[in-house]
Amino acid sequence: MTSDEVRKKYINFFKLTPKNHKEISPAPLVPTDDPTTLFTSSGMQQLVPYLTGDPHPEGKRLVNSQPCLRLEDMDKVGDNRHTTFFEMLGNWSLGDYFKEEQLVWFWEFLTKELSLPKEKLWVSVFEGTKEVPKDEESVKIWEKIGVPKERIHFYGVKENWWSRSGPPDKMPVGEIGGPDSEIFFEFTQVKHDPKYGKECHPNCGCGRFLEIGNSVFIEYIKKKDGSLEELPQKNVDFGGGLERTTAAVNNNPDIYQTDLFKPMIEALEKHFDIKYGSEKEVDEMYRTVADHIRASVFLVQFGVKPGNKLQGYVLRRLLRRSATKTYLKDRSFKDKSFDSKKYKLLVRRVIDSYPAFFKGADQEEIEQEIVRELRRFRKTIEQGIKKLEKRMSDKQKIDGKFLFDLHQTYGIPYEVTEEIFQKARGKKLTEKDREEFDKKLESHQELSRTASAGMFKGGLADSSAEVTRLHTATHLLHAALRKVLGEHVQQKGSNITAERLRFDFTHPQKLTEDETKRVEDLVNEQIQKDLPVSFEAINLNKAIKEGALAFFGEKYDQKVKVYTVGDPEGKWFSKEVCGGPHVSSTSEIGRVKIFRQEKIGAGIMRLYAKTE
Ligand code: ALA
Repeated sequence: MTSDEVRKKYINFFKLTPKNHKEISPAPLVPTDDPTTLFTSSGMQQLVPYLTGDPHPEGKRLVNSQPCLRLEDMDKVGDNRHTTFFEMLGNWSLGDYFKEEQLVWFWEFLTKELSLPKEKLWVSVFEGTKEVPKDEESVKIWEKIGVPKERIHFYGVKENWWSRSGPPDKMPVGEIGGPDSEIFFEFTQVKHDPKYGKECHPNCGCGRFLEIGNSVFIEYIKKKDGSLEELPQKNVDFGGGLERTTAAVNNNPDIYQTDLFKPMIEALEKHFDIKYGSEKEVDEMYRTVADHIRASVFLVQFGVKPGNKLQGYVLRRLLRRSATKTYLKDRSFKDKSFDSKKYKLLVRRVIDSYPAFFKGADQEEIEQEIVRELRRFRKTIEQGIKKLEKRMSDKQKIDGKFLFDLHQTYGIPYEVTEEIFQKARGKKLTEKDREEFDKKLESHQELSRTASAGMFKGGLADSSAEVTRLHTATHLLHAALRKVLGEHVQQKGSNITAERLRFDFTHPQKLTEDETKRVEDLVNEQIQKDLPVSFEAINLNKAIKEGALAFFGEKYDQKVKVYTVGDPEGKWFSKEVCGGPHVSSTSEIGRVKIFRQEKIGAGIMRLYAKTE
């Protein structure tokens, strides 16, 4: 079965009666108005307000397939089941059905729609804590379905609790989460490796079991005093990996052999003339390249450009990791290097694997963006290698500090240096060099981790009063820019912290002093008028007809929330498709002042504003 068939079957299964779910558009991979996270990493991220009680415009039963990126798995990529990018099949009950329906339906989907053999399915259930009881209800449901006791396993908060920030003690105040119940597929052909512990069990990590679905029962919210409080509504948040489910259906534990990766793996095999499956190291290289290029293609399609900050840095890292892997192999046969042409072929294979997603995409632009970065990197690597070779021919010392500098300045990984060193000098680098290098690397990573910790939390949307005020100010600014500069102004991104808002939009040059003043005055006039801010849930096509701004590629016939500043039926100043939250009247905002602007790309300007 292909992944596309699995995806379609899943969506249809939940859409049809009696499940009656509405299919919603996936959120953009790079969130457009959530400054607290770099990427969408789960399907529920866009649904947080609705899981806590806001009515969703599409109702209480939702389904979709969400492109996700999880950075925490980057170092695990190379084995047969981890990826950075993946698609998450998701269905949700917003205070509607609960455990009974969810577990029975998903079981039915796996065993009837996908025909997975029942005896290969294992489940896990929350064992309970002092605060939250053991999930006996799920156990009863699994038993009723017919899962034998020995295939029902209990785990604690580490394995069977889900929130965007992990177990209850890691949840910030206001964060939601709950116990979950997972389903694992058993690959009987994989034997337990004792390296993963004496006994094999669904979560032991040896690869015999693959988690293919997680039903989270979101019923708690973290309170100020550190305790958990029950939410007024009980929700289901289900997430299952499309690639993993497809691997289970094909009874092959290697997700890199599913149709989504195969074309890329074949291109790599052809170039290196080494069959996939014949050398462990080569397999790891093929998988890493395939995963990282796929993730990069999606990032570029979502507007990310390689750079030194935030999403751009992640894209750069993915491309460099991939280039380093191929480079290592390339050095052994230089005349046939894995060059731009080969990378373009991989990009095309990704695009061809997702025809619906990349419909209308500018393939050449994606190829160019990726190849440009790889070329730049190759030059840097070559400079670094020259430096290394010179140092070696000068018989100068190569120590941990030098190795780290090569890594830091030229992006040359330790392994590459080691290989070159070994070839030239006929011996390995010393243990001491490695230790020194590792120590320097670790302290550097610690520093950057601390600096970016806030950005990697995974979508903890900040709905503090300050951010909410600036969010409404952003809508006013957007409308004012269009009125003063013209209708070519379109939002390209926004980022809000408690201190300021940042707004990117299409416009060829900086605003003049006069234009800046006119925009500010127009915004502040609306604030003084104390206009009401309200929303309604309508179809996107109707919203657009009414003049609402919507630029994020939502599905045309989908119901969306439209926020209006002013009278929605009469005279209004701004109408925009948006999830909220917003203030209820403009006087809550305070005076808005633009304090900085810069050009960030061809035809894209960035403004910073704050309230006084
Ligand atoms: N939100 C849950 C997860 O990401 C389903 O695993």
